[in-house]
Amino acid sequence: MTDAKREHWDEVYRTKATDSVSWYQPIPEPSLKALDALQLPATASLIDVGGGASSLVDRLVERGWSDLTVLDIAAPALDVAKARLDDDAMRVTWMVADVAKWRPWRCYDVWHDRAVFHFLTEPEQRLAYRHALEAGTAAGSVVIIATFAPDGPERCSGLPVQRYDAAALAAEFSPAFTLERDWREEHTTPGGGRQSFQWCVLHRR
Ligand SMILES: C[S@@+](CC[C@H](N)C(=O)[O-])C[C@H]1O[C@@H](n2cnc3c(N)ncnc32)[C@H](O)[C@@H]1O
Repeated sequence: MTDAKREHWDEVYRTKATDSVSWYQPIPEPSLKALDALQLPATASLIDVGGGASSLVDRLVERGWSDLTVLDIAAPALDVAKARLDDDAMRVTWMVADVAKWRPWRCYDVWHDRAVFHFLTEPEQRLAYRHALEAGTAAGSVVIIATFAPDGPERCSGLPVQRYDAAALAAEFSPAFTLERDWREEHTTPGGGRQSFQWCVLHRR
C-alpha cells in the first residue's frame, strides 16, 4: 500500500509541471499569514509535512528561518524544491518518508500540513499520523493544518480524501491539541477552478 502511494506521488511529480497541479500556489499566502499571526522568531523550528514542491520553504529561507525541514513521500517533489533553492537547499533538512509510518526523532515548534492529512481516509492511518505528530511536537508547539472543507472536492490528484470542517478537524487532534483559530479559504487552481479549504491553528497543551 505504501509503495503504491509512493509510486503514485513519484509519478505525479515526474510527469507534471509544479505550477500545473491543482494545489499549486504561486505564493503560499494562507500559511505565511498564519505564521505572521503567531509572531514566531526565525529561530523557531518548522516542519512542512507533505511539503512537496511548495515554495513555503523558499519564503521562509528568505525570511531567515534557520531550522526548516520538508518531509514528503515523493523524492521527486523534494528534488524540484531543492533545485529551485539552489545553494539555499543546504539550509533545509529534506526527508523522504510516509508520515503515517514515520517516527520523528526530534520536536518542532511548528508542524505545517497543507493538503496531506486529508488523504488519510482510514482510521488507522490517522492514528499513525497522530502518533507521529505527538512524537514530533511538545507543549507549546503549533500545528497549522489545511484540508478540503465539507464543500471541497471529494478527490485530489485522483485519490479520495476525507473532508473536514473546523470542529471535525480539531477533534482529530483532541485532547492533546486545542483549537486556537480556524478559517476557510477558496483556493483557485491553475485551471481556474475553486476549491474550499478548511484551515486550523492548534496549540499543543
Ligand atoms: C496535495 S499535495 C500538497 C503539497 C504541499 N503541501 C502544497 O501545499 O503545495 C500532497 C502532498 O503530500 C504528499 N504526501 C501524500 N501522502 C503522503 C504521506 N503519507 N506522507 C508524506 N507525504 C505524503 C504528496 O507527495 C504531495 O506532495
